[in-house]
Amino acid sequence: MRAAAEDRMLVSSLVEGSALFPQILAMMRSPEPARAAHVEVAPARRVEMESPMIRDPLCLVRASADALADVEIVFDDLRAYSRRVDGMDGRADAARAFVTARPPGCGLRDKHAFVAYRHGVPIGLLDIIGDHPRPGTAFIGLLAVRESAHGAGLGRALYARTEAIMRWRLKARRARLAVVEANPVGGFWQAMGFGPTGEVKPYEGEAVRSRAVLMEKMLSMEEGLLV
Ligand SMILES: CC(C)(COP(=O)(O)OP(=O)(O)OC[C@H]1O[C@@H](n2cnc3c(N)ncnc32)[C@H](O)[C@@H]1OP(=O)(O)O)[C@@H](O)C(=O)NCCC(=O)NCCS
Repeated sequence: MRAAAEDRMLVSSLVEGSALFPQILAMMRSPEPARAAHVEVAPARRVEMESPMIRDPLCLVRASADALADVEIVFDDLRAYSRRVDGMDGRADAARAFVTARPPGCGLRDKHAFVAYRHGVPIGLLDIIGDHPRPGTAFIGLLAVRESAHGAGLGRALYARTEAIMRWRLKARRARLAVVEANPVGGFWQAMGFGPTGEVKPYEGEAVRSRAVLMEKMLSMEEGLLV
């Protein structure tokens, strides 16, 4: 019931013509014309609760319209990132678009946007598109940690949650993402097990022209069982 109500809120919050990263989303367009029907059931709102059993108490909460203030708090602390990928400190519609933007042809059920909290404080953002650009592949649209908290292991912790969602909730066997060359985070993704696919696509931010390097990681069942 609660998930259905949230989905309605999400639908009512859709902003026509607004997209957080239209350039990334454009790159995410599938070369394949056909998409398999997505069989994901509506996910529960809270993915992981803080627990004394968890050494790193990250808590992911599905980002809906009522979380916009917390999404904005994180974007306010991502200015260097915004300057690299957009050439500006931040975009006015960033928070709302983070909650709603998805590639053409991608349904609401394939959009999985979360705010990450640590000790109740919003510290990061995560956006995954399920079964994109093809069934079995999960596309990480954004994984970001507040700049004031960089270098403390939170990116790795957030990625661990991301991979768990992709493997077990979305049943993905491959993870994919695009790194804008003007944003030097390829080393982070390599540390997370990703490698370049060899695909490079032109990228245009608001006031930045660069290239986007596609990276992928296979999510084998055996490795997942060892985590
Ligand atoms: C990428 C990002 C999530 C890393 O977060 P973080 O909390 O600083 O990363 P961590 O402290 O968990 O680092 C994990 C590992 O990645 C490495 N790493 C982190 N950022 C790196 C970078 N920019 N280049 C190379 N390696 C990096 C760390 O050295 C660390 O390696 P180790 O565990 O072997 O010591 C963060 O820089 C960020 O949010 N950037 C802005 C948003 C962004 O660019 N997201 C990616 C879009 S494709």
